[in-house]
Amino acid sequence: MAERPHSPPGLPLVGSALDLGDDPLRFVTGLQRAYGDRYPLVQVDPVTGPTTNVLVDAGVVHEVLGDRERFRRPNLGPQAGRRQGLISSDGDLWETQREIIQPEFVGKRLASYADTTGDAVEALLTEWPEAGECDLLGEIGALTLQVIARSLFSYDVTRAESRRVRNALDTFGEELAFSPLGIVLPDSLQPGPSTAFEDANDALDAFANDVIDRHRARDDPPRNMLAALMAAKRDPSVELSEDELVDETVLFLTAGHETTALTITYAFYWLSQRPDVRRRVRAEADAVLDGDRPGWDDLPALEATERVVRETLRLTPAAWNVIRETRRPVRLGGYRLDEGELLFASPYAHGRDPAAWDDPDQFRPERWGADASRAADSYFPFGSGPRSCVGRQLALIEAQFALAGILSRYDVEVLVDEFDFRPAVTLQPTGDVPARLTARD
Ligand code: HEM
Repeated sequence: MAERPHSPPGLPLVGSALDLGDDPLRFVTGLQRAYGDRYPLVQVDPVTGPTTNVLVDAGVVHEVLGDRERFRRPNLGPQAGRRQGLISSDGDLWETQREIIQPEFVGKRLASYADTTGDAVEALLTEWPEAGECDLLGEIGALTLQVIARSLFSYDVTRAESRRVRNALDTFGEELAFSPLGIVLPDSLQPGPSTAFEDANDALDAFANDVIDRHRARDDPPRNMLAALMAAKRDPSVELSEDELVDETVLFLTAGHETTALTITYAFYWLSQRPDVRRRVRAEADAVLDGDRPGWDDLPALEATERVVRETLRLTPAAWNVIRETRRPVRLGGYRLDEGELLFASPYAHGRDPAAWDDPDQFRPERWGADASRAADSYFPFGSGPRSCVGRQLALIEAQFALAGILSRYDVEVLVDEFDFRPAVTLQPTGDVPARLTARD
């Protein structure tokens, strides 16, 4: 086997880097289809900047994501080194943070978040008109931000705060989107963070500080994730600074709500493309909820709804790309990689791999019936290994409850034929997502 990975032919000088920056979704799905059965990984070779390898073998994806010793999660772009939260930290700090935070996402805590979600869905529906059009992503974003803020921080978010947070995330989306220049220019020539980007960061800091101050000001602070972090901060054996507390709060409030909002919004889109499936999910919601708000005990019975969420995460995974960096020279898939090379594992490309899925581009929740195991390795919308998503269960509960709760009371028609995506850190649409809402009789 060759020492260095295969490099697909591309444009002269900049190799295939321009394609990756230009239309990353088309590029990674194209690589998957062209090379998935021939190589474990292929190399994209920019003239400057780190060499990038796209992992086209699902087994190699899990090997890389499972190994913290050879590979680290890099902090790229204007965000580099800026915030030290569970998502961005490394080494001992990551281990400490994961130990503190993981228990907040199991057992009774999840059951209470489920009830919080049911209440938040109910509150949202009381604000909706009998009939009208809305920006669905904005509405669902307000819902999932409310769920995270109440569940982890016991904080009630106002509509104005919600708009500020979502505007900040929009600015991040624009700044962090893949672009041809971002891929081929050396670091020294990359444009620095814009003023808008700095303002967005300041807005998030201010919001997180409000959330923390409000918690501290309470006579009897509630038991929640923030309390767990503060208790750890008082422990002399744990190094957790005030800045890290703010960072953690910002990262959970943002990453913890945006991915879920995108997933629910895309699920409504796919259901608008498949009215027969939407009827089935609605009938299930009517039977299980019987006009009530969704609660923890309803979860196992929402089976058709769960299949819709899974299928949505296959075709439109909110985290479309997971990145690692080699810590030192390593061998992978029989090749030699240098220190500092990047590794791309795309849930989007693997989710649409014809070698793993029948009719890969079709939205068919039915495929998640009894024989769904064949393509299990190609399905990793929440990552894999020790750094996989800590909020996975909560995200699934939120998505199922939002779909069932809303469809039991409203018809939702997404007025978009096909999405024009802006793949940044998350898989965002380029604009609003207009939808028609009609209250059911
Ligand atoms: C459908 C919604 C979601 C999707 C698709 C998603 C996806 C992911 C993926 C792919 C990773 C792994 C990234 C990597 O390995 O580099 C991840 C990690 C993470 N997610 Fe999620 N996520 C979702 C919802 C949530 C929620 C609701 C929360 C918090 C309440 C959350 C918090 C985190 C955190 C803190 C990490 C970092 C874990 C670590 O490094 O130890 N996510 N997520």
